[in-house]
This record gives sequence, structure tokens and C-alpha cells, in this order.
Amino acid sequence: MVTVLERNPLLSVLAGKREPIPPIWLMRQAGRYLPEYRAIRAKAETFLDLCFDPVRAAEVTLQPIRRFGFDAAILFSDILVVPHALGQRVSFEEGGGPKLDAMKDASALKSVHADIDHTKLEPVYEAIARVKQDLTPAVALLGFCGAPWTLATYMIAGHGTVDQQPARSFAYRFPNEFGGLIDTLVEASISYLIRQFAAGVDAVQIFDTWAGNLPAGEFRKWCVEPCARIVGAVRKEVPGAKIIGFPRGASTGLESYLGAVAVDAIGLDWTMELGFARDHIQTRRPIQGNLDPLALLVGGEALDRSIDVIVENLSGGPFIFNLGHGVLPETPVSHVERLVARVRGTPACA
Ligand code: CP3
Repeated sequence: MVTVLERNPLLSVLAGKREPIPPIWLMRQAGRYLPEYRAIRAKAETFLDLCFDPVRAAEVTLQPIRRFGFDAAILFSDILVVPHALGQRVSFEEGGGPKLDAMKDASALKSVHADIDHTKLEPVYEAIARVKQDLTPAVALLGFCGAPWTLATYMIAGHGTVDQQPARSFAYRFPNEFGGLIDTLVEASISYLIRQFAAGVDAVQIFDTWAGNLPAGEFRKWCVEPCARIVGAVRKEVPGAKIIGFPRGASTGLESYLGAVAVDAIGLDWTMELGFARDHIQTRRPIQGNLDPLALLVGGEALDRSIDVIVENLSGGPFIFNLGHGVLPETPVSHVERLVARVRGTPACA
């Protein structure tokens, strides 16, 4: 008899096995580079309306699966639905990124609710259930959340930042209050991920996009410890829950992250040296990554060479092919086709 595990390459890798052809999916695989995404996006008034429309969110989640046959579908949503469900005002300006009410000092934290309001997230759980129904067992369904530190950088600054200065200085100025915000986000994330598993996801990814900009002590305090708590508490409620960690830019901090956060696989950004990844990281945990999204955008020889060197180095062990960060909106669809074909060893389309 064939078990679900054997038929699902991505879950097989998350169980620590090597797949002869690495499973592949891409962060931000549903997004603006796809004409069919832009068509549905144009029908929704705002980006959040699209996230909270279960029928359309499910449809958008499935678009890249239909087009490219990826091994995983990632729920179409955003990490900032969690601050929204904690009572913060969140909006997305056309082409300008997220906008939240900035927090200038510790007193602003009073407006953040202690508990996540699941009624606001019901459409997300419904979208998960819908996608799950439409996927074959060979394709894994991934849920996700933002890690507490990364969420806090947006909640405090009120928008995306290059170097996360507002949150970093807030954490130095008001360490106790900042710790309280992180605790709230840990609890909210635990509860959110448990609900995603209940709704039907096979695995989740914790996105710590801004993990790479903290001194070691702060990294341990604001990234490693909160993520370790999330993973431990989710597994208590969902035994064997499969979890991928993505502490982007963590670099040498990966040592403490892997030591404390019991993730099933580790997502690497594109700066990670592949020989080091193979010899010192893959020996400890399955790897996911780490093509430079810019190589995918540029295509051609640069793309082929970048793919080959990753596959040569990492496909000898448990490995999931992905980017080192999300697909860039200007990426030609034909380059993604070429990538999938090359990783699977089938003749590339031109
Ligand atoms: O990966 C996927 O395909 C699933 C969907 C997904 C989105 N955002 C859709 C999205 C996921 C997993 C995210 C996570 C997310 N959101 C992160 C962590 C990963 C990362 O990219 O670093 C972060 C930091 C955010 C916050 C966010 N959302 C920003 C900074 C922006 C603006 C920048 C941009 O790319 O536009 C968004 C908007 C967003 N999230 C879009 C999409 C498809 C584009 C908005 C649109 O289509 O109008």
C-alpha cells in the first residue's frame, strides 16, 4: 500500500528523507508576476479584501499549481492579517506596501488586543478548507505566519523599513513592553497556526523576513526564543506538526536558531554558501532554498547556472527547491517554467 507520505514529495522531505527529484515551490508563487493573479486582483477593491474572500483566495492559491505543477500550494494571504486580528489598523496602498498605525512609544501598545480575534480570520480558514478539497494528495498545502519579530517591525514602524530602525530602537528603549508585544504575538501565532492545521494545512512556514538585522543577543531574544515557543506549543496541540523555519539573513545566527527551534526544515536565503549549507546545515535539518530571485528574473544562462549549482550541492540530502526570498513581480512566467523543468530534469522550454 502506498502511504500519503510516500506520495507527497514535500512531506517526505519534511520527514527527513531525500527525494531523487527535489520537490519545488516558490515563496510568493501566487502574485503579481502571474497575469491570472492580476486579473483577480483587479476585481478586488483592496488587497486585504482579496485575502479575506475565501473563494478568490482559494482560486489564487491554486493558480500557480495549475500553471506550473508545484509540489506545494501556499495559502494566499499575508502575515499582516495577524496584527489586523489583534485590533491594529492595517491597509495596503496601491503599489506602496503595507500601512499600519505606527507606535511611537510604549503607551501605544495598549491598543493591541491581548487575544487574536478568530472571527476576523474565519475567511482564511475557509480558504484553506476549499484549497485542500481541490488539491491532489501529491501536493502539500502550506499555511504560514509571520514570526513575532518580523510582525513587530511592521507594527511599530507602521510600514516596511530597510533596516528596521523603529522596532530595533523601540526594543532598546522599552525592553519590557517590547517583550510584552512579542509575548502577545507568540500566543497569537500559536493559536493561528493551530487553527490552520485544524482547517487542513499539511505544514506551515514561519517567515522571519527581518531576522538578519539584529545583534546576536537580540536575535536570540526576539527571534530564536519566540519561534522556539511557537513550535513547541503548536506541536503540543498538533502532535507531529510539520514546520519550516525561514529566519532570513540569520547567517551565523542559524547555529542558535537550529539549536533551539525544532523546525523540520530550514529555509535559507540566497547569500548562504552552498558547501557550508551542505556540510553543516543539511546534516542537521532538511534545507529549503535558495535561488536568488533576481537570477529568476534575469533568466537565461545566469538562471541555469544558479539552478545547477544549488541542485549539485544540495540534492544529495533532504532538500526542497525554493527561492531565497519571494518571486519578484517583474519575473517573466517563462523563466519560472524553465526553472521547474530544469529542477525536474525535463527538457527546458525556451
Ligand atoms: O507566498 C505566497 O505566494 C503566499 C502569499 C503571501 C503574500 N505575502 C502575498 C502578498 C505570503 C506568504 C506573504 C508573506 C509576507 N507578507 C511577508 C513574509 C515574506 C516576505 O516576502 O518577506 C511579508 C514581510 C509580508 C508583508 C507584505 N505584504 C509586504 C511588505 C507587502 C508589500 C510588498 C509587495 O510585494 O507588494 C505585501 C503585499 C503582498 N503580499 C502582495 C502579495 C501577493 C502584493 C500586493 C498586491 O498584489 O496588491
